[in-house]
Amino acid sequence: MVEPDIRHIVVAGAGLMGAIIAQSFPQYDVHTTIYSNCEDDFERARQIVANCHIALIENGAMTREESEKIQNALVYTVDTECFRDAQLVIEAIPESIDIKKAFYEMICAIVPDDCIIASNTSAISINELAKYVTYPERFCGTHYLNPAHIIPLVEITCGEQTAQHTVDKLHQVFTDMGKKPVMLKKDVKGFLSNRLQFALLREATYLVESGVATPEDIDTVLKYGNGLRYTCSRPFKIVDFGGMDVFNSVAKYLYPDLSDEKVCNNLLQEMVDADKHGISNGKGFYSYTSESAIEEEKERDFKMIKILHS
Ligand SMILES: NC(=O)c1ccc[n+]([C@@H]2O[C@H](COP(=O)([O-])OP(=O)(O)OC[C@H]3O[C@@H](n4cnc5c(N)ncnc54)[C@H](O)[C@@H]3O)[C@@H](O)[C@H]2O)c1
Repeated sequence: MVEPDIRHIVVAGAGLMGAIIAQSFPQYDVHTTIYSNCEDDFERARQIVANCHIALIENGAMTREESEKIQNALVYTVDTECFRDAQLVIEAIPESIDIKKAFYEMICAIVPDDCIIASNTSAISINELAKYVTYPERFCGTHYLNPAHIIPLVEITCGEQTAQHTVDKLHQVFTDMGKKPVMLKKDVKGFLSNRLQFALLREATYLVESGVATPEDIDTVLKYGNGLRYTCSRPFKIVDFGGMDVFNSVAKYLYPDLSDEKVCNNLLQEMVDADKHGISNGKGFYSYTSESAIEEEKERDFKMIKILHS
């Protein structure tokens, strides 16, 4: 049972994130509507929901009956009247300030004054988006990570005007749903997960560009070294276990030597210029066929579920 005040939620955007975020609510008796401004989105959204349940069912994390119940409970609509009695709106529409601005202005004329509004934006400033929300104290960021049906983390970001009761309520909702919410007290670009991910990626690409190692070598270091430690422990615990003084003196010695590239990532730019876009066209740091990309994604999901349930 999720936070008792939230019984009706609208997830806006029937794309990858909207569909997956929405499907997590009906099992907690929350009336869940997926809103899009384009009816054609719904077939793909239904498919996304069905597909994300496959890995959960095959790993015993969900039964076939539960999956059917969730799929039947989801309401799909292009009718903006769905916002009229919403208690929570999670916005997962395209990553464009103009599109989000028009959307907030539209729904703010419909939703109740105390309806919480949250954005799943990957990177746009919460303070910037708050400008287009009436009663901005009810607005904040709720950043899910893909695959959002498996990854427990949700980053809740406060803007300058966000009220404490807004984020407290969302923290309770996500906790009740078995998620692992983390609260950012200030709006910061990239939130926590992307700042950490890109700090590591900047150094990894620098090492490849400098000819120190190949992408495969770096993947091996992370998979069998740091990544394994992070999964089974945590970065700050690793410092505790390794010794504060050791990490302090290594940091002093190493920081001046680490990449501090501020402008762009040359290696990623070269890859894009060479038409290497990743699994979408089968060419990236590795090569993929459409079948192997699906297989690898499935394998990744299975491993994550296994680790989380072990
Ligand atoms: N894809 C990811 O891995 C990921 C991860 C975290 C956060 N996000 C963020 O989530 C948001 C959605 O990303 P996505 O990958 O699901 O995008 P997507 O393109 O798959 O889906 C967006 C959906 O919104 C619909 N839409 C467009 N304008 C709309 C409007 N005015 N009202 C209602 N619906 C509208 C589109 O038709 C589409 O179905 C973005 O802000 C993105 O940055 C994405």
